Amino acid sequence: MSRSRTAILAALALVAGASGTALAVVPGDAGIAAAPCTVDYKVQNDWGSGFTASVTVTNNSAAKSSWAVKWSYAGSQKVTNAWNAKVTQSGAAVTAANESYNGALATGGSASFGFQGTYSGSNAVPATFTLDGVTCNVDGGGPTDPGPTDPGPTGPSTKVDNPYAGAKMYVNPEWSAKAAAEPGGSRVSNQPTAVWLDRIAAINGVNGGMGLRDHLDAALTQKGSGELVVQLVIYNLPGRDCAALASNGELGPTEIDKYKTQYIDPIAAILADSKYAGLRIVNTIEIDSLPNLVTNTGSRPTATPQCDVMKANGNYQKGVGYALNKLGDAPNVYNYIDAGHHGWIGWDDNFAPSAALFKEAATTEGATVNDVHGFITNTANYSALKENNFTINDNVAGKSVRESKWVDWNRYVDELSFAQGFRNQLVTTGFNSGIGMLIDTSRNGWGGTARPAGPGASTTVDTYIEGGRYDRRIHIGNWCNQAGAGLGERPQAAPAAGIDAYVWVKPPGESDGSSSAIPNDEGKGFDRMCDPTYTGNPRNGNSMSGALPNAPVSGHWFSAQFQQLMQNAYPPLP
Ligand code: GLC
Repeated sequence: MSRSRTAILAALALVAGASGTALAVVPGDAGIAAAPCTVDYKVQNDWGSGFTASVTVTNNSAAKSSWAVKWSYAGSQKVTNAWNAKVTQSGAAVTAANESYNGALATGGSASFGFQGTYSGSNAVPATFTLDGVTCNVDGGGPTDPGPTDPGPTGPSTKVDNPYAGAKMYVNPEWSAKAAAEPGGSRVSNQPTAVWLDRIAAINGVNGGMGLRDHLDAALTQKGSGELVVQLVIYNLPGRDCAALASNGELGPTEIDKYKTQYIDPIAAILADSKYAGLRIVNTIEIDSLPNLVTNTGSRPTATPQCDVMKANGNYQKGVGYALNKLGDAPNVYNYIDAGHHGWIGWDDNFAPSAALFKEAATTEGATVNDVHGFITNTANYSALKENNFTINDNVAGKSVRESKWVDWNRYVDELSFAQGFRNQLVTTGFNSGIGMLIDTSRNGWGGTARPAGPGASTTVDTYIEGGRYDRRIHIGNWCNQAGAGLGERPQAAPAAGIDAYVWVKPPGESDGSSSAIPNDEGKGFDRMCDPTYTGNPRNGNSMSGALPNAPVSGHWFSAQFQQLMQNAYPPLP
């Protein structure tokens, strides 16, 4: 979705390296006669020659202060890197030992870790696992699956560290049907995507569509006896989308009371229904709003009158604080505040001020930092997850890559490094040290034939970056229906340090905005950033918009975009 930065001057504060905790220790039901341990090994992604997998081990015997899970591969699998465990391999035998921060494993507690590997031939799930030398039951439906051994609690009484660990994610049947109706769409139509509550009417369902209770009821069915995460987007602030027009909403800048009583209160009441206590409900809280107050107000060349109004009336902070407070009360609800993306708040002028504003919002209207489980970056944006062909520390022909036109003094070159760095900043600013990050990878794959195979020529910093970058946008401030984009990493839990999950919050195939003015009753405007002939504004360096033609109103199905996203998926689709 967004937009801009103005910061060019580099302050000297270096951001500490990534570190974080993504361990999961979930309270379980001790005392049930069960196997001494259970292992759930899931292949998350498999691209034919490599894969990522996640493992959740549950300890049903005495509490431990350290642990090691072992298995042997029947095939040629080789683990190449891992997170949240130290993984070593000798021949076919693999040992995963705890990291310093997740050695404690209570009776009934679980720990999760993940890894990447290579293989040729078969990538079968190992048949046998041990925890500290004792054979575990294998969960997760493999051929040797002995079936569930643990009925689980009826509802968690406390929040778990990472709600995604060991959990399935809700597949929105409405999005799934649209995806499945596309040629080739069945390759992705079973992926989990978020449910957007983008107007008051969405709570009961727009035009006979599913409302919030319908989704939660469907989620209970999908859940079965395991854990399941339902992802919601809370997106209806007064004066919404102040720096653009495409996603303006139904509430005017002053309608904060209506936001509270007709939008947040009814949602909070449904989420608090004991019927849904066994679901893990993850909320993305209000896309774009708070960062807009940092970057698009006051004397910045990118300022808009609408953002100045919202800054002056404080209704973004009040709305976010109110939502956090009301929604965060339920023990099974996890709030993640939207934190823009690296191409927006990765500049020094925006980085610490954004964290400070998030803290302000999270401590207003009765909210506290304990109502914040984490933050999400790249929601509905296109920023590449990892730019493997260069790093922020590279120098070429005597210049730092920060001096290139593309990087333009940003402190980050990709979303993963930004999310990890910003997590540290948020903790420094006063958020809990256990917060986790989510990254929206729904449309940041940038695969296909245009994906560079290696770095650009070392002639200048610009040839080096232009030839090597995966993100093919004309300018990093472009945000509407980007030509050339592909589906990104499939949703998965605990993919990297400090990251709770890669998620698909923006449902692929739903437009970012119409490419010409289209009348509608949703409050949506026409933003020329969605018009492929537009030559830009200060928020995208006065560049061409890079948008696909013939797009419908934001949120509406855009078949041509969906087809392109599948075509350029990275990792590629089968
Ligand atoms: C945009 C639209 C919103 C839609 C969402 C998801 O933000 O404004 O209506 O729900 O995208 O596609």
